[in-house]
Amino acid sequence: MKGFDATKTTVDTSRRNALKALGLGTAALAAPGLLRSGPALAIPADLAMKPIPRTGEKVPAIGLGTHMTFDVKPGKPREHLREVMKIFFDGGGRVIDTSPLYGLAEVSIGDFATALGITGQLFMADKIWVTGEWLGDDSHAQQQLRRSMERLWRDQIDLMQVHSLVNARTVIRAMQDWKNDGQIRYIGASHHLPSYYHLMAPWVEKGTLDFAQVRYSLATREAEERILPAALDTGTAVMVNMPFEKARLFKIVKGRPLPDFASEIGCETWAQFFLKWIISHPAVTCAIPATTNPKHQADNIGALNGPLPDQEMRSRMLKHMQAIPEFDKVAKMPAYPGKTFDGVVKRGSRKPSKSK
Ligand SMILES: NC(=O)c1ccc[n+]([C@@H]2O[C@H](COP(=O)([O-])OP(=O)(O)OC[C@H]3O[C@@H](n4cnc5c(N)ncnc54)[C@H](OP(=O)(O)O)[C@@H]3O)[C@@H](O)[C@H]2O)c1
Repeated sequence: MKGFDATKTTVDTSRRNALKALGLGTAALAAPGLLRSGPALAIPADLAMKPIPRTGEKVPAIGLGTHMTFDVKPGKPREHLREVMKIFFDGGGRVIDTSPLYGLAEVSIGDFATALGITGQLFMADKIWVTGEWLGDDSHAQQQLRRSMERLWRDQIDLMQVHSLVNARTVIRAMQDWKNDGQIRYIGASHHLPSYYHLMAPWVEKGTLDFAQVRYSLATREAEERILPAALDTGTAVMVNMPFEKARLFKIVKGRPLPDFASEIGCETWAQFFLKWIISHPAVTCAIPATTNPKHQADNIGALNGPLPDQEMRSRMLKHMQAIPEFDKVAKMPAYPGKTFDGVVKRGSRKPSKSK
């Protein structure tokens, strides 16, 4: 099964509107192919779609993450996850982010996508995390690519990213070869720790990558310093991980009503408030929230609907969050408050015991 069918997307002006609203004009849209119209088919025209700058291909601005959430052991209940994926797809979602590092997440995605008959309509973003037998050896990267394709039931991966910049030079060179021979369509690098952004920034500034995946949320805004401006300058797409700070943002707004002004940008829930703030940044192509809960999925994919905030509104949203007492402590709170996972990653993350 080949990759995402780019003709099954629609034209959208959200990036243009966001640029205008942020006072950046439309110069950034002048690059050839940046806004490309395709036949309006599978995705309704009024959803927030964003172009991948390198090609102009459009993707929906809300994707789906799979870390921990889709890592389920064989034999364990998984029907709720199939439902999450169906609601995601039916709501217009196409971009799914996964990694061999996420235990059995790739297996779950490949399984559900095949059962739902949507494998070829997804924009699959995956990752490589390997070293080699010697410096510069890419044989392990090749093995990991092959295994990911088997698990996802795809003979082409839409986006391959070097995970957490591990062995970046060798892996990026290998990914360039795979792009040339059609095994992947885009290359990227991912990280979730701002303390590593200085290592990712040069790759973005040189324009080596098609995608940079970083953590960016109301509470973690360091990507604004180098990564997002460089992405705009070099036409690098940006995928945003941890948009909810691993559910910690929900903890600090628990019991608090949305501000009245949220209705002006079509936000009915806190999740939509958090997501719309992210995807309205002109450099951001999509955010990839993760969930195990079908109701939460319906909520998250709802952020594709309605208006996006302009710069003034984004500032207002941030100011509102900054007035919440625990806001500046979000990144230090324990991840996934109140949640438990039972996949192979959880099993593998137990601490080594002391020697006797
Ligand atoms: N490359 C990297 O270094 C890296 C690092 C981290 C993450 N990522 C990628 O980014 C994705 C997203 O990040 P993440 O999974 O770490 O965290 P996240 O998306 O910020 O948060 C996920 C958590 O939010 C909760 N949630 C989701 N929607 C909700 C809603 N509408 N209402 C209330 N709670 C909601 C989920 O709980 P429920 O299950 O109860 O909904 C889940 O525990 C990952 O899955 C992964 O694909 C990449």
